[in-house]
Amino acid sequence: MANTILVGAQWGDEGKGKIIDFLTENADIVVRSQGGNNAGHTVILGEKKYVLHLIPSGILRPGKTCVIGNGVVIDPVAVVGEIEGLRAQKIKVSKNNLLISDAAHIVFPYHRALDEQREIAKGKKKIGTTKRGIGPAYGDKAARTGLRMCDLVQPEIFTEKLRAKNRENNAILKALGATPISFQETLDAYLDAAEKLAPFVTNTVVFLHEALKNEREILFEGAQGTFLDIDHGTYPFVTSSNTTAGGACTGSGVPPHRMDRVMGVMKAYTTRVGEGPFPTENDEIGDMLHAMGREFGATTGRARRCGWFDAVATRYAAMINGIDELAVTNLDGLDTMRRIKVCTHYKFGRRTLDVPPTDSRQLAECVPIYEEFDGWQTPTVAAKKWDDLPKNAQRYLEKLAEFTGAKLRIVSVGPDREHTILL
Ligand code: GDP
Ligand code: IMO
Ligand code: MG
Repeated sequence: MANTILVGAQWGDEGKGKIIDFLTENADIVVRSQGGNNAGHTVILGEKKYVLHLIPSGILRPGKTCVIGNGVVIDPVAVVGEIEGLRAQKIKVSKNNLLISDAAHIVFPYHRALDEQREIAKGKKKIGTTKRGIGPAYGDKAARTGLRMCDLVQPEIFTEKLRAKNRENNAILKALGATPISFQETLDAYLDAAEKLAPFVTNTVVFLHEALKNEREILFEGAQGTFLDIDHGTYPFVTSSNTTAGGACTGSGVPPHRMDRVMGVMKAYTTRVGEGPFPTENDEIGDMLHAMGREFGATTGRARRCGWFDAVATRYAAMINGIDELAVTNLDGLDTMRRIKVCTHYKFGRRTLDVPPTDSRQLAECVPIYEEFDGWQTPTVAAKKWDDLPKNAQRYLEKLAEFTGAKLRIVSVGPDREHTILL
């Protein structure tokens, strides 16, 4: 029995959804513990494509229980939409396989409006958020003025709390010259969602502890990635939650000593969506991947910025998260390259750094020092086991694991569940 925390080791979109779906085969429960519907996790099963935002990717496997934990910020209307979308794709979703924490905070339309206004006010210095209201919702949580799922399912209490919050936020929106939010429309939509979600809402901490007692295996599905972490990421170009391993504990109520291993997911190169420093960014790789129809955001459709693998970043991610094992995805994205670069250190002025500087402005000035590798220039998508991979691909993967400082466990060579090599 092993409880596993799965985290993104880069800037998000590492392929967490795909790996979670793969690992769920041997787990009982899959938990989301942070983030909101800023996340977009893609799972491909044959002809079918699923994009999960708030619901754990484990939902696609029958007989597994999925939990949206207390650390997640929930847009109730969006979850209802997601449940209905999954049902339309013939995936069963009921209170038998989905539980939602009664302590999770709620995202409202005024959070989205404020998210947008703050981005406008920042002008060129904007973060490039997903505009899902994530920052303002976590802001209310920290300010102790948020509404939670336990409020949503009590209509009278909810109505009064929302009335006051909506009024307060409309005053701010008006001052910013933005359109105020209709209280009545919001109330109607949220009470409608409340009725649909009420059967799912419960104390998920109690459920998870019961599961621990019964030795059921739990998988924690990280959202975003290490460098989008509010504490450890490239602040202020980050999201508003702890995307690193510790977030799985606080966001679920499962204590640290019950966690058995941490797996880090990373692409064989690097991507980032939104603004902020990205030392190994390289337009050539970006143009190549975009021409293949790849690396467009699963949530906002934005083209992702692309670059070489950054081992300074992944090594730091291994430290913060305590990564034991690695899943490397999108190896096939490099199939056509003649030479492949990996950043092993940064040059910052006269200094050589092996960890990223804390200050984003300094990170933006860092110049990558690269080690180069011969490509394999062979399609890898059909590889089923390690020995099927070209020698140069094996060597490249071994180097990524060595530079990062963790054991290579999974290699992904295509988007489908089938395109996965377990070592
Ligand atoms: P997540 O947010 O970490 O779950 O990742 P996303 O789903 O946002 O982005 C990862 C993208 O890469 C998705 O389009 C996946 O279908 C795709 N993907 C994952 N692993 C592989 C792989 O090994 N090869 C290819 N070609 N695509 C992959
Ligand atoms: P998954 O789980 C990639 C980025 C946004 C922006 C910054 C802040 O699919 O890996 P936010 O809306 O959270 O306030 O935006 O974080 N971002 C992501 N980038 N993958 C994600 O999730 C992301 N969620 C947020 O682009 O730069
Ligand atoms: Mg994503």
